[in-house]
Amino acid sequence: KVANLKGLKRGQLRLAVITTAKFFIPRLLGPFCQLYPGIDISLKVTNHEGIIERIASNLDDLYIITQIPENIDVTYKQFLENPLVVLAPINHPLANKKNIPIKDLSGESFIMREPGSGTRRAVQILFDRYGVKVQVKLELGSNEAIKQGIIGGLGISILSRHTLMSAADKEEITILDVENFPIRRNWYFVYPSGKQLSIVASTYMDYLLDAVKPLHQEVQ
Ligand code: PGA
Repeated sequence: KVANLKGLKRGQLRLAVITTAKFFIPRLLGPFCQLYPGIDISLKVTNHEGIIERIASNLDDLYIITQIPENIDVTYKQFLENPLVVLAPINHPLANKKNIPIKDLSGESFIMREPGSGTRRAVQILFDRYGVKVQVKLELGSNEAIKQGIIGGLGISILSRHTLMSAADKEEITILDVENFPIRRNWYFVYPSGKQLSIVASTYMDYLLDAVKPLHQEVQ
């Protein structure tokens, strides 16, 4: 009977998610679509600024973002941890050190995300607070490209731990044990406060909240 009820859910779900969620969300869409074959999904992936613009223009049904928008009235629900970590190639001189003082990152070659990125903003706030001056060798608008740059020896970077999902990545990239890290953040579901969530959108939100329950410890 439950299966029948589920089968009745149909319609469109327009999702817009922050760049880091794309390492994660598409994988969970498969089981969701099998459960609800009548639901068609479109998924936009963009940076913090892009998500804010999409919320302001009311383009999607549901958003996943890390920093709650400050100037738009939104309803939000905490979803999963999304910590920022310092990534380096495995042969980096700091790779096996413990409790590296954050100041020791000064002078390191660094790969920085693009303006408009929430990751970049968080990194800049932290570096300003501790007077860290890295050498930005390259600015890149893609977490994947930054990972390749790290592997290629262009420098270190600070990215969400979710960007390091595959076993292959972990063979080539290591997380440096730097003081003040990880920077603790979370993903949130967000939608404009005045908006009534569609049945499809709230079904999806409930599904994901349930699906991530076993993962809460894993990303720590
Ligand atoms: P960004 O955000 O793509 O804007 O840097 C990533 C995140 O908040 O996880």
